[in-house]
Amino acid sequence: MNDFLIAPSILSADFARLGEEVDKVLAAGADVVHFDVMDNHYVPNLTIGPMVCKALRNYGVTAPIDVHLMVKPVDRIIGDFIEAGATYITFHPEASEHIDRSLQLIKSAGCKAGLVFNPATPLHYLDYVMDKIDVVLLMSVNPGFGGQSFIPGTLDKLREAKAKIAASGRNIRLEIDGGVKADNIGEIAAAGADMFVAGSAIFNAPDYKTVIDKMRAEIAA
Ligand code: DX5
Ligand code: ZN
Repeated sequence: MNDFLIAPSILSADFARLGEEVDKVLAAGADVVHFDVMDNHYVPNLTIGPMVCKALRNYGVTAPIDVHLMVKPVDRIIGDFIEAGATYITFHPEASEHIDRSLQLIKSAGCKAGLVFNPATPLHYLDYVMDKIDVVLLMSVNPGFGGQSFIPGTLDKLREAKAKIAASGRNIRLEIDGGVKADNIGEIAAAGADMFVAGSAIFNAPDYKTVIDKMRAEIAA
């Protein structure tokens, strides 16, 4: 595995030019496309669904697509994202009636599966499903919107999650999402994250490559 993955969240991209924006951010050095799915039910916002994921694949995007489901119910939409070409599919355990079943659905299609933890959601949801997990995603803001500030308590939670992953002995990514910027990514990496979602910090900048290069330099520092 690559040591560190940068996953720009297209939530902050220009949706009227989405294909070009994704090309541009990948050319600027991004590793993964983070794809935020919001349903105006589990979270108070409405974004994009499987049709848009499929459209990006048809447009020619071959990079991994990291589908972050902020929807309830979960299972109904998983199959659509598998067909639409998702690489990773992650969901919030509180939003699934049957967490193990949702994970199995994702894994049975050969996609990578993960659980997402809101700032106040305990990590114990991992306890009996670690064998089906490829990525643990910690939210460092409350889900629903881009452009919020990083919640500092997430650093301790990252360390806790990192210890759980190490104890499992499995090759599991530790992903962080919300308020990640070039000026805090260093301490976030030091706390154990190895996959970094950043929306506004990248797409609101005039030059994507400058920000991504700066982020990588801070991670390596
Ligand atoms: C929030 C989304 C994030 C969001 C991050 O619910 O899950 O992926 O796009 O945006 P920034 O990086 O601006 O906090
Ligand atoms: Zn997200």
